[in-house]
Amino acid sequence: MKEIVEAKFKEIFGTEGRFKTYFAPGRVNLIGEHTDYNGGHVFPCALTMGTYATVREREDKILNFYSINFDELGILSSSIENLTYNENENWINYPKGVIWALKSEGYNIDHGFDIVFYGTIPNGAGLSSSASLEVLTGFILNDMFKLNIDNTKIALIGQKAENQYVGVNCGIMDQFVIANGKKDNAVFLDTATLKYQYAPIKLENAKIVIINTNKKRGLGDSKYNVRRAECEKALEELQQAGLKIKSLGELTEEEFEENKSAIKDEIRQKRAKHAVYENQRTIKAVKALEDNNLKLFGELMVESHNSLRDDYEVTGIELDTAVEEALKQKGVIGARMTGAGFGGCAVSIVETDKVENFIKNVEKGYREKIGYNPDFYVVEIGDGPRTL
Ligand code: GLA
Repeated sequence: MKEIVEAKFKEIFGTEGRFKTYFAPGRVNLIGEHTDYNGGHVFPCALTMGTYATVREREDKILNFYSINFDELGILSSSIENLTYNENENWINYPKGVIWALKSEGYNIDHGFDIVFYGTIPNGAGLSSSASLEVLTGFILNDMFKLNIDNTKIALIGQKAENQYVGVNCGIMDQFVIANGKKDNAVFLDTATLKYQYAPIKLENAKIVIINTNKKRGLGDSKYNVRRAECEKALEELQQAGLKIKSLGELTEEEFEENKSAIKDEIRQKRAKHAVYENQRTIKAVKALEDNNLKLFGELMVESHNSLRDDYEVTGIELDTAVEEALKQKGVIGARMTGAGFGGCAVSIVETDKVENFIKNVEKGYREKIGYNPDFYVVEIGDGPRTL
C-alpha cells in the first residue's frame, strides 16, 4: 500500500523534496453501541485496514489534497488561512476540520502541504473511514509541526472537528480506538473518564467476519443526532426527578427500572433503556471474555443487536437480514450490527473452519431477501497510527 500511495504522490505532485508516508487504522466495535455519548463503555478494536497518506511540506500556506479513492475529483486545493467548511468540498472537510480544530486550540500551523490519501476501508460503511482520516491528519500534523500531543489528544481533536466543523455529534469511540489501537487487542474504554484497558482477543479457532450490507449511510443525514438528543432529554427528565447522575451510563438496570417512569415519553424511555442495558452488557461481555466464555460473549452480541433493533431502532432491514442470516449458520458464535447503524456493517465471530460456508450462505440468504450482494471482510486486529 505504501508503494501505491507514494507512486501516486510522485505522479501528482512530482518527485522532488522530502515526503513521508503514514497510516491510521479503521475500527470495528465488538459491543457497546450508542453508549459513548451516554457516558457508558465501549469495546472496539482497530483494524489492519485503514487510511494511508504521503505528505510533503510546502513553504507557502497552500493545502493540496488528493485521494486515490476519489480520483475523479483531482487535486482539491485550500489554504490554512481559509478553513471555512464547504459542503461542496466533499471529503477534504475532514482533514481541513482537523487543521481548524488544532488552530482553534492555539496550535501553530503556519504552512501548507501536499498530500495524497488512500483508504482501504470501504467509505460510509460504518468502519470509521472518516475518523481514520481525522486521526491520520492529526497524527501527521503532530509530527510535522512538533506539536507534542499524545494520541488521546489527537482523538479529541478529531472528535472536535467532527462535532463542530462537520456537524455530526459523534462520541469519542471511533477516534479513540483508532488513535490508541493495539494489535490483537480490543480497547475497553469508559467514555465518562477516558480510562481504558486493553483486552486480548484470543480467538484460537474463530475469526472476526464483517458483513457489509452495502446499504450506504452518511451520519450527517441519518438519525444519529436525533438519537443523541433523545437520550439527553431522557437524562434531563431523570435528573429533574431527583436522580443525581451525570449520564445514563451511571445507572444499573435495576436503577433504571425503578426510575424510568420519570421519562415521560415511551420512545425516549426505550432509547434510554438501550443506553443503560447496552452499557451493562458491555461490562458483562468483557468479563465473559476474561473468563474465556466466548459463547456468552456471542450471546451478548445478539442481545445487543436486538436492543439496537427494538429499543434504539437504528438497524433497518439490511442489517437485520445480515444478522438473521448470520445466526442461521453453523459455527457462528455471535453477530450484531456495528457502528452507528442505519446500514453499514454487521460484525460476527465465526469458527475458522466454517467461515467459507458462512460467507457463501449469508451471501445467498441476503441477496434473496435484499436483492443485491453484501461484501465480507475476514479481519485482523491491528495497531494504531504510525509512520511507515
Ligand atoms: C458512530 C459514532 C460513535 C458511536 C457509534 C455508535 O460510529 O461516531 O461515536 O456513537 O456511532 O456506537
